[in-house]
Order: sequence, then structure tokens, then C-alpha cells
Amino acid sequence: MTEIAVNTGKPYKVHIGSGIIGTVGDEMKKLGIGGKTLIVSDDNVASLWIKPVKASLAASGFEVYDFVIPHGESSKNADNLIAILNFAAENSFSRSDTFVALGGGVVGDLCGFAAATYMRGISFVQIPTSLLAAVDSSVGGKTAIDLDAGKNLAGAFHQPKLVICDIDCFDTLPDEEFANGMGEVIKYGMFCDSELLDMLGNDIDIQATVARCVSIKARVVEADEFEKGERAFLNFGHTVAHAIEVLSGYSTPHGSAVAAGMVAITKACTAKGICEAEALDILLSLLKKYNLPDRFDYSVDDIYSATLKDKKNANGSITLVLPTEKGKSILKKCDYSELKEIITLGMK
Ligand code: GLY
Repeated sequence: MTEIAVNTGKPYKVHIGSGIIGTVGDEMKKLGIGGKTLIVSDDNVASLWIKPVKASLAASGFEVYDFVIPHGESSKNADNLIAILNFAAENSFSRSDTFVALGGGVVGDLCGFAAATYMRGISFVQIPTSLLAAVDSSVGGKTAIDLDAGKNLAGAFHQPKLVICDIDCFDTLPDEEFANGMGEVIKYGMFCDSELLDMLGNDIDIQATVARCVSIKARVVEADEFEKGERAFLNFGHTVAHAIEVLSGYSTPHGSAVAAGMVAITKACTAKGICEAEALDILLSLLKKYNLPDRFDYSVDDIYSATLKDKKNANGSITLVLPTEKGKSILKKCDYSELKEIITLGMK
């Protein structure tokens, strides 16, 4: 088992290992957590993993409740948020009780936001069951629901008390969902870790890979918990990716959109002479290896218009992560004409 400390305002540990899902009860007890627990999960994940989680919590003396939502992004909505809050209130959950997010990014974000708002904030624990949630959304405290106008438009920074990542959960992921997570894994290599890019070119050890990504994310979030500056590095490839997601009506998986978004920005930076060509070659070969797309056929105008609605776009500019060489990048505030130029070069 690998343990990674995340030293945010309220520090916590991420446990990554095989066969550790059943340690959740004991680990929570060791942290001094007791009382009631509300497991939030989706129907797919619950059918596979809720039993050992319930058993572990019950064996450690917790009173266990569960709230299961239908799987899929459309569940990350205000109705489910209110339903979870009402369920907790009806069952007399108090400030000393705990929510447990068992699932991928949708469940983690929704449960986390419910925990952030219930009685002005109670503890929650993340048990990510998808690769994408393990390397990204379960760590760093971003919680949210989607609004009609877009994804993650209502949310809060609320760090979990503990993250238990059992890599055995990835064995039950469909191939495309594993590829989806690999999009975020490659992102870490591209923006800051050339050694990770080398590792990804060979057979990977999934525990070591997740641990490496989580360590990077932990260091970035510790330096900038509330996204005032360098946390933006985690958004490498995401400006075009969010546009692709919006244009596809959210039918394109996040990791696939990030893959194409990384290609667009790296292509543009290579064409502008900001980035060494090797970085683009490595990116394209890794996307091929992990069955991820390198482009979607939207027009420059459509992508550009969609990026203007991005919530990271403020006061006439947007901060982009520009790759400079293999495993290196910089942040640059771009005005709209630079943004349009980058999209034009990147979509060629
Ligand atoms: N997913 C990007 C972040 O946590 O900041």
C-alpha cells in the first residue's frame, strides 16, 4: 500500500493499494471518526463494491446508510443534491457524522458538495472506483454539481478526510473508462513529468502510476488549494476539452476530450515555436497506445465560441497551460486574439 499525504489547510492521506477497500472502517476509526455514515454511490458501482464497504463500516461500529443514484453525468444535479441532504436530515445526521463517496467523478463531486453544504459542512471520505477519479477528482477538494448552463457551475472547495483508492476496482472498468482515466494520467506527464511519460511508454504498474499522479496533484494543490495560480497547471488541455464536451452535449468522455485538447494546444505551441516537436510526437504515440482520440472534427469557430463560455475565462483573458518541451509547461494569460490563434493552429 502506498500512502500519500496531502498537506492542505486540513491535511489528509490518500491510500493506494490492492484489496484495501475493506480497510475503510478501520482507517476512519483511526482518524477519530465515529457515528453514522452515508454511502453515496451509483447503481453500477454499488452492485459491485457497496457490500465490502458496508461490511467494513459496520464491523468498525458505524451505523451505515446508503443513497444510490443512477450512473452517469446527468445525475450530478441539484435534485440529487437536495435529495441527499434531505435523506441525511430525515435520518438525523449531525455535524459529527460522515458521508462516503463510493464511485467515480460524478459520485465524488456530488457527495463532496453535499458534504460541503450539509449543516455548513461535514466530513466526507472518497473511495474512487474509476481511474479518472483516482488520479484527479477524488484528490484536491473540488466538489460540484452541474447546472443547465454548464458543468460544475455550482460547487465548493471541501477536502475529504481520507481517500481510499483500491486499484482492484479498475479491474471491473469497461475499456473505454480505463482509457478515459489514462487521458488524465498522460496530462500529468505532459505538463510536468517527463519520467512519467517514459514510464507510460512501457508496461505500466497501475499502483505506481496512480501514486505518481496523486503525488503530483497533492504538491500542486498544497501550493494553491483555491486555484489562485499554479493549480491551473492541472487544466492542461482542458480549455479545448471543455469546448469539445459542450459541443458534444457531454457525450464525449472527459478523458477523450482532454486527449484531443492536449493535442490541439501542443500542436499550436509547436507551430508557434514555443514547444519542441518531440513533445507532440510523444503525446500522439501515447494516445494511440492507450486508445485515446487525437482530434474531434469541430470547426475553429465552434471551439472558440465554446471556450469563451468557460468559467476559467475572466476579464477578457484566459490562462492557458502551454507545453514547452517533453514534461514541461508554462502558464500564460492569453487575450482572445491569442486564444483564437492557438485554436486555429491547434485544429489544423
Ligand atoms: N481537476 C483539476 C483540479 O482539481 O484542479
